[in-house]
Amino acid sequence: MTTFVRQLFDAESSTFTYLLGDRAAGVAALIDPVREQVERDLTLVAQLGLRLTHVFDTHVHADHVTGAGELRARVGARTHASAIGAPCVDVPLHDGDVVTVGAIALTTLATPGHTDDGITLAMAGAVFTGDTLLVRGCGRSDFQNGDAGALYDSVTTRLFALPDATIVYPGHDYRGHTASTIGEERAHNPRLAGRSRDEFIALMANLALPPPRKLAEAVPANRACGQPIVQGA
Ligand SMILES: [Fe+2]
Repeated sequence: MTTFVRQLFDAESSTFTYLLGDRAAGVAALIDPVREQVERDLTLVAQLGLRLTHVFDTHVHADHVTGAGELRARVGARTHASAIGAPCVDVPLHDGDVVTVGAIALTTLATPGHTDDGITLAMAGAVFTGDTLLVRGCGRSDFQNGDAGALYDSVTTRLFALPDATIVYPGHDYRGHTASTIGEERAHNPRLAGRSRDEFIALMANLALPPPRKLAEAVPANRACGQPIVQGA
């Protein structure tokens, strides 16, 4: 097996970044890189003897600034995200699109709800769910065109339709989990298991969460692939 997945963590925003590599082909991809961790990520890619060719964002994040633009500028990686998300990406993705990184094939699943541009990237045996599905949780749906009903539909009709053993690699974790499976989440996710669509919508409407700390900075920056926004310019 020459392909691998490596999970990386940004402690400030509790964000998981995923490095996908194919040693035989000598190429790598990053999913949801964090701008402050670009040096760490490039060092790791170099130490593994790989070339970073692809960067993906699962959505326009509100809690951290993407490293995509800087990675593109530094090493020429092509940036990928939903066609209805950040307009700065090189490759706008649509539902069903398949992108290959060496021997790894990543299929785009449109999974709106946390944000309208949310995608899940599916490879053989695993899904990178962004904030659509977290371990025993899910992303909020109260800003950035979020929609609790759409989130319920995305999780229950797209993700929970996958085989039980499919590994769930989430976009964040706040309680120390790292990964899960579709079967586990279908049975034990407290927001979704056994809940009707209407019950889920009511639950999400009553979360009363504070706004993300970086909302004002991160959303405009991420629509520009993480390039710095010059205030007043
Ligand atoms: Fe998010």
